[in-house]
Amino acid sequence: MSQKSIITGTGHFVPPKVVTNFHLEKKMNTSDKWIKQRSGIRERRYADPGIGSSDLAYEAALRALEDAQIHKSEIDFIVASTLSPDHYFPGIGVQVQAKLGLSHIGALDVRNQCSGFIYALSVADQYIRNGVYKKILLVASEVQSSNLDYSDEGRDLAVLFGDGAAAVILEPNPKDDGRGILSTHLFCDGNYASQLWMQKPSSKDKPTFPKQLGKEKGFFPQMNGREVFKHAVEKMPQAVRVALEHNQLTIDDVDILIPHQANDRITRMVAKNLKIPIEKVGRNIDRYGNTTAASIPIALDEIIKKNKLKQGNIVALTAFGSGFTWASAVIKW
Ligand code: UT7
Repeated sequence: MSQKSIITGTGHFVPPKVVTNFHLEKKMNTSDKWIKQRSGIRERRYADPGIGSSDLAYEAALRALEDAQIHKSEIDFIVASTLSPDHYFPGIGVQVQAKLGLSHIGALDVRNQCSGFIYALSVADQYIRNGVYKKILLVASEVQSSNLDYSDEGRDLAVLFGDGAAAVILEPNPKDDGRGILSTHLFCDGNYASQLWMQKPSSKDKPTFPKQLGKEKGFFPQMNGREVFKHAVEKMPQAVRVALEHNQLTIDDVDILIPHQANDRITRMVAKNLKIPIEKVGRNIDRYGNTTAASIPIALDEIIKKNKLKQGNIVALTAFGSGFTWASAVIKW
């Protein structure tokens, strides 16, 4: 039987600049009250100009390496997930590889937005299980603040998103003790792609980048909030149920559920739907907003660092976002 993958180290990094709801009140027609009531967010972090998602990813990677107590030269593959790469191409995987000075290894970019971490985890897990790689660095990172529509027209989306990064190290579990990633389950429905997307730049346009870039709203992320909300509260519980059933577990076996931090109202509805006590649910959106691919691993790292996870605990992850994509994973810690 193949060896399961275990997470041997985690780390996260958020830029120091704190942007509260009160700061946003000054930029657009919104209020602290509205943002807190509708999303549970109090503040988020913004990266300074000149800092890209690969920079945050690199900082998170250093912390995860230290946590796993391995030297960076031991990493044999990188999987990176972001919707906000430093450049249109290449992705940030190669940039993290270069920053770490690991020019001999491969790096793969996964583009599945809010579900990106679980999709990336799934990919990395297959490599470990099949014995292809022994120490994979998985990074998820976003700098979204540089491309949000801060006008009243974009306020529904702009108030939700923040910047941040997290990384995990995956290795084969040398012991046959059942610990590790038990399964991952990935779903999508591309018919809903335009409900949460950044329409441009598009290779369909000739030229892809028009001269009057700043005037085109298509270059900002756009979202049909209600449609996303409706699907998120339905699909995340569904994905968790599929994962639990697959592993012959029930919701009572789950010690911690970490959902993608999209909106605290969504999180509470997911918990209610699954009948899991809210105390067992990882929640930090109040401090970071929605950090897309990075949201689950940031929450995971915070939970670990607070010593809230014990060996043998069952951890369920679930995400929903642009694509639409959704996913789940179950880990025996
Ligand atoms: O990671 C996955 C990606 N995103 C999500 O999961 C987000 C999913 N959607 C949501 O979280 C919610 O739909 C929002 C938080 C975006 C919006 O909450 P809502 O309860 O669905 O509000 P709404 O869109 O129905 O808007 C209610 C009102 C509207 O005004 P009227 O038409 O009632 O006069 C909006 O124009 O709130 C207004 N509004 C705002 N007001 C103040 C929208 N955005 C804002 C804002 N500040 N930032």
